Amino acid sequence: MKKVITYGTYDLLHQGHINLLRRAKELGDYLIVGVTSDSFDRGRGKLNVRNNVLERVEAVKATGYADQIVIEDYVGQKIDDIQKYDVDVFAIGSDWEGQFDYLNEYCQVVYLPRTEGISSTMLRKESQNVFRVGIIGSGRIAKRFIPESKVVNGIEVVSVLNPDLREAKAFQQQFDLLEAHSDFANFIKGVDAVYVASPHLTHYDYAKRSLYADKHVLCEIPFVLKGEEAKELYDLAEQRGLVLLEACKTAHCPGFMHLVTLVKSGVIGDVVDVKASLSKMVTIPMRELDVAQAGGCITEHAPLTLMALIKLLGRDITDVNFHSRMQNGVDVFTKGIINFPHATSSITLGIGVKTEGNLVISGTKGYVYVPAPWWLTDYFEVRYEDQTKNKKFFYSYDGDGLRYEIQEFISMIVNHRMSSYRLRRRESITIAEVIEKYRNKENVTEI
Ligand code: CTP
Repeated sequence: MKKVITYGTYDLLHQGHINLLRRAKELGDYLIVGVTSDSFDRGRGKLNVRNNVLERVEAVKATGYADQIVIEDYVGQKIDDIQKYDVDVFAIGSDWEGQFDYLNEYCQVVYLPRTEGISSTMLRKESQNVFRVGIIGSGRIAKRFIPESKVVNGIEVVSVLNPDLREAKAFQQQFDLLEAHSDFANFIKGVDAVYVASPHLTHYDYAKRSLYADKHVLCEIPFVLKGEEAKELYDLAEQRGLVLLEACKTAHCPGFMHLVTLVKSGVIGDVVDVKASLSKMVTIPMRELDVAQAGGCITEHAPLTLMALIKLLGRDITDVNFHSRMQNGVDVFTKGIINFPHATSSITLGIGVKTEGNLVISGTKGYVYVPAPWWLTDYFEVRYEDQTKNKKFFYSYDGDGLRYEIQEFISMIVNHRMSSYRLRRRESITIAEVIEKYRNKENVTEI
């Protein structure tokens, strides 16, 4: 019996897939179809797959061509499957020409003609509205946002706003946008949603004006610097049926999300202490070092670190104490001790002091160690007294990692979801409240 194997995602199964499966089946007597698992696809940066693995398997089954279906879950599995199932022919569409020649060592490799004019990507695009997004601000993070937005379906960045029109135009040109504005009223007319990436002190005002203009808002960290402002904006978004999401990127990245669910499932017992550190040295005069622009490491780095504590320990903070080293009115190093009823925690932040930038979560059975930079979580270890039980976890953190929050933002708009479990509104408000305490100099000691 001649055995053939082929692989694919088979999302929104279409005629191209059916033709390919028929041709593959015709190459032998028995066809094995490998369907990618959801996590394998996500790991490969395929963020937009619509059907889950069960639906995709059912669709392949319904074609009637597959004699056996296997789930593809890891890099290198093709070689294992070919050997395990004694496969004679590996078949794949011609869009992969040459890329699987390495399998010739194990079986015959055949590239079959691809059906022109159809693909899952195309179907996904056609079936989804594209939201026109305008970026407020044209600085470093805004520049990283555009390439990241291109890997997410359903979003097109169309314009930029900067009070300095020359800067807006330079940004427009660099990223080939449709519009550049220095005037908010003109800017807001042409978009469905905004990404606020302007200086910290302008976030509240821009977010509020955008919500009043009935636009969805994705706002960079720090969202706002006062708890009441955060509450007011979330209430406003809710009243107007709009999505408002704090762009706390780590909360959306697959590695960090799994870390939280693992810890919450009790793998290290009760969590008793969390230590989160984040430092990025700033040596040339920039916004981060300017007191007039709310510079300092609390405003810069507290949102991601507080998010981690809150996701792991909750919002029931009993007391907060800060120790800071100041330079020209901004904190270049801050250590915050944040206590919970049954746990302690600390954040160690620097823009003028270098710290390791790791995250350590200590529990009654073991601890989790996430090496620097923990906020781009692609690896962590769960460690125990008995080291033979230690486990290492690996993830992919693609590109600049903004794609995950962008995808959630678009998904919330499409599905009319006002709140994201990845970062609840009340959690975001708690972050703003802690930052506000610091800025009000409550329990802050200079060192
Ligand atoms: N295929 C094909 N003709 C098409 C589309 C896909 O022959 N028009 C083949 C691919 O070459 C592959 C198999 O179908 O052998 C599964 O491909 P998959 O990646 O699942 O489908 P695409 O439509 O290419 O999906 P995407 O747009 O997500 O890449």
